[in-house]
Amino acid sequence: MPVTSSGRIASIRRSKIFNTKNDLSEATRVAVVELLNARLADCIDLQTQIKHAHWNVKGPNFIALHELFDKINEEVEDYVDEIAERAVQLGGIAQGTTRTVAKRSSLPQYPANAVDGRSHVEALSSALAAFGKSARQAIDTVDDLSDLDTADVFTEVSRGIDKWLWFVEAHLQAER
Ligand SMILES: [Fe+2]
Repeated sequence: MPVTSSGRIASIRRSKIFNTKNDLSEATRVAVVELLNARLADCIDLQTQIKHAHWNVKGPNFIALHELFDKINEEVEDYVDEIAERAVQLGGIAQGTTRTVAKRSSLPQYPANAVDGRSHVEALSSALAAFGKSARQAIDTVDDLSDLDTADVFTEVSRGIDKWLWFVEAHLQAER
């Protein structure tokens, strides 16, 4: 059967977003899902950077930082799940594979030469701050799209990230 131009458009739309009885408009859901997937890539990247620090940190503060980083990892894993599942609730596909994340993440590359506690604290505080900034910007964007529930997800995430930034950054603040 020949594919009409309208049929092609319908099939492109179908591949982009699933139908749902959720009352948010399709245009809103498409835009929000795209934003959720961008922040999902950042959040998964952040989580792997935290695990990297948890495994590799060395020095006199080893056990405190090793345990702190694992605690942060556990909560960031919850943020990953919240962001991904919100995208699916809105009819989207959560794009969370490692290869997709590596292509899409906007976070800075984790420094390969970080060894001592100070360098991991410096690197992780930068990663947390970068993700905190983009999560906070996402609150405003979805607020403008009148999706206050996704705004609530990003508010919870950015509030948590602010707390973890404090926990990590406090290791450096006595020096200033
Ligand atoms: Fe571990």
